[in-house]
Amino acid sequence: MFRGLALLPLCFVVCLTQTPGWDLLFGTSILNETQQYPIKFDNPIPSWIKGSLIRNGPARYEMGKRSFLNLFDGYGKLYSWQFPGNGSAFFTTKFVQSLSYNESRKLNDIAPYQTFDDLVPPMNFFEKELALRNGLDNMNINVYNFSGDCVILSDTWKLYVVDCFTLDTIRPTTPNIPGVQTGFPYISIMSVAHPVREYGTNYHLTILQSLNILPDMPHKFTLVRSKSADIREKIAEWEVKKMPYLHSFSTTEHYAIIFGCPFYIDILKMLRYSLPKDSIEFHKDEPTVTYVIDLKTSKVTTIENENIFTMHHVNAFEEDENTLFLDVASYPDASLVTFFEMDNLMNATKRNELTFKPSLRRYRIDLKANKMTPTSFDINPKLPFVNMLEVPTINENYRSKQYCYIYGVVFKSDNKLWGNFSFVKKDVCNSSGDLSWSIPGHYPMEGWFVPHPNGSSEDDGVLMVPVLDGNLGKSYLIMLDPKTMKPITKSYVPFTVPFHFHGRFFENVF
Ligand SMILES: [Fe+2]
Repeated sequence: MFRGLALLPLCFVVCLTQTPGWDLLFGTSILNETQQYPIKFDNPIPSWIKGSLIRNGPARYEMGKRSFLNLFDGYGKLYSWQFPGNGSAFFTTKFVQSLSYNESRKLNDIAPYQTFDDLVPPMNFFEKELALRNGLDNMNINVYNFSGDCVILSDTWKLYVVDCFTLDTIRPTTPNIPGVQTGFPYISIMSVAHPVREYGTNYHLTILQSLNILPDMPHKFTLVRSKSADIREKIAEWEVKKMPYLHSFSTTEHYAIIFGCPFYIDILKMLRYSLPKDSIEFHKDEPTVTYVIDLKTSKVTTIENENIFTMHHVNAFEEDENTLFLDVASYPDASLVTFFEMDNLMNATKRNELTFKPSLRRYRIDLKANKMTPTSFDINPKLPFVNMLEVPTINENYRSKQYCYIYGVVFKSDNKLWGNFSFVKKDVCNSSGDLSWSIPGHYPMEGWFVPHPNGSSEDDGVLMVPVLDGNLGKSYLIMLDPKTMKPITKSYVPFTVPFHFHGRFFENVF
């Protein structure tokens, strides 16, 4: 009885706030940095794991007396869990030492660089003009290995090279693409934060979006091969009447697939208001325009399909030379973007009222008939929320191939409240294989599938998932068995790891 009474205050905190620790997950600046901090796992780490899980996301929302109004604009911070393969493990975290971050620290104010949303207090006219000229510089979305170069990315053409061993920032780069015109009348600054590995190579494919500032003149897509942090090669180039915002795309063995949802960038509004948030609009009555690019011939096939929105592609593959399949996490519109406004994010009533219902969707692309047919995946009645997963990841050995398993986070497992997070496995071949892992008050983030080097099946490996334990206000990394979604081992880290976007495992980097 006395023990029950002693637990009462904790229950009061946890039970009354259905989302304990939410302010640590989003919106609180976490300034701590550390290098090679030894961490201890509660069970042995599988001995074949050698490398580092490196992740990227916003973690600082104000400088001096000025604040960001949108999660997208928080200063980027890198996290690394390092596994030398001898049973030990280390944790490193550092802010990205970008030009904008360093200048802001010197000024003790948010320096004038392009942001997605406005600031409080806002920049004056001259600062906004300067910000437009300085461009987007805050690389806080993803991290990649470009043929040995460790790079961090946003949805911009500019990127930063970092040291993946120390997480020190090395230099920015804005690669030139031989044979591609990027000057007047184009503004060529937009790209995707999710380049895709080219089938059968160590290169990555990406996209440059060139916006034409002349009224009613066509914009331009360039499909590009990234051979390193700095070396780029043009694969295909074509004009479009309207330029969609893009965040990711897909590849198969022979094709790249760009899914241009009608979330269009208005370049004139961009020049007038200098804020992407006020310059991108979802057009509810227009089709999605898909571009299928033949990687050998550079031929671009354009197909119109249903009005829909997606941020994240899952995977794509070929059934035969004319039939492709594309899987995405879809939404009926782009209202997801408003969730990241601090005003919505930090207010439980507002965020729970926002429509947020992602749905996994598969498209069959018939290149001969120039047609795309949407389908949905079966729902497992015991785990109906699994099909609502976001931040999808797969076993990368199955990239651009037929596959069965998607791993991701369901942010509203009860379809009502933001905060009921589950980390799930979707079996797209047989929904009876769907699985889920969750603990009330714990917030898993995007996971990464590390394949077993001698694995015989697609789900033979380990899932690494950063989690914020909202009840304790502490973060940990958990390793799950992808076959069962049961925990293998976990380790708390010394500092809070707030919500962040993406990352990956770098083999032999530790
Ligand atoms: Fe993303």
